[in-house]
Amino acid sequence: MRKRLFAAFLAAATPAAWAANAIKDPAAGWDRLWFEVLVDISILGIVFALITTYFIIRYRRRSADEVGRAGKLTVAAAVGWTVIPMFVFMADDFFLAANGWQLWNTYRQPPADRLEIKLESGMYSWDYTYPNGVQAQNVLKVPAGKPVLLRMTSRDTIHSHFIPDFRVKEDSMPGRVTYLWFYPQKPGEHIVTCAEYCGIMHSYMVGKVVVVPEAEFTAWYAQEEKKLAEAGARKKGV
Ligand code: CUA
Repeated sequence: MRKRLFAAFLAAATPAAWAANAIKDPAAGWDRLWFEVLVDISILGIVFALITTYFIIRYRRRSADEVGRAGKLTVAAAVGWTVIPMFVFMADDFFLAANGWQLWNTYRQPPADRLEIKLESGMYSWDYTYPNGVQAQNVLKVPAGKPVLLRMTSRDTIHSHFIPDFRVKEDSMPGRVTYLWFYPQKPGEHIVTCAEYCGIMHSYMVGKVVVVPEAEFTAWYAQEEKKLAEAGARKKGV
């Protein structure tokens, strides 16, 4: 257990490891960064609590009529007590911010071997269009083991496509095209929810990502394409 924790910590502490992983699976990258935040604030919190505890004991009142007196600090000590704790906090802040920035930039370069699906959001649904023209509403079926990119816009107001399990969230808005991508690795279902207040039914604007084995997806995809072609032919009266 300790060995595993240490390995996770090492992985978290290596920006290069994040960058390498982020391309494959952004969710793992964000999870590691979050783990790093938890570790860092815990260490800082414990260190500062210990120092405070020491001061409370060291400078406690020793008799009922004792009156406190503050010794005058030298300029160097005053500056030191201000700058050193601030530097410790800021150094960690900048470290985390830099890693977040790097992960974000890596994330914004989606993998080339992706499945790219168009998404139009509207009050109150998620309307997906696959590359072969097949459409789906609120339920996005995708194959396991392939990165999925959503190219998004909106037909009315601002919505935000949020898939908590994959740690991705991005606004979709009228007159502008945005994107997000994620890497579903094994079959399962994941909630999609709107994360931008978009109207009275905002809280009902939910859907799901259904990850299925690749073969199952391919079969479904071909069948839906066939249905679409047949419907088109009927319309034309062929
Ligand atoms: Cu769409 Cu909130």
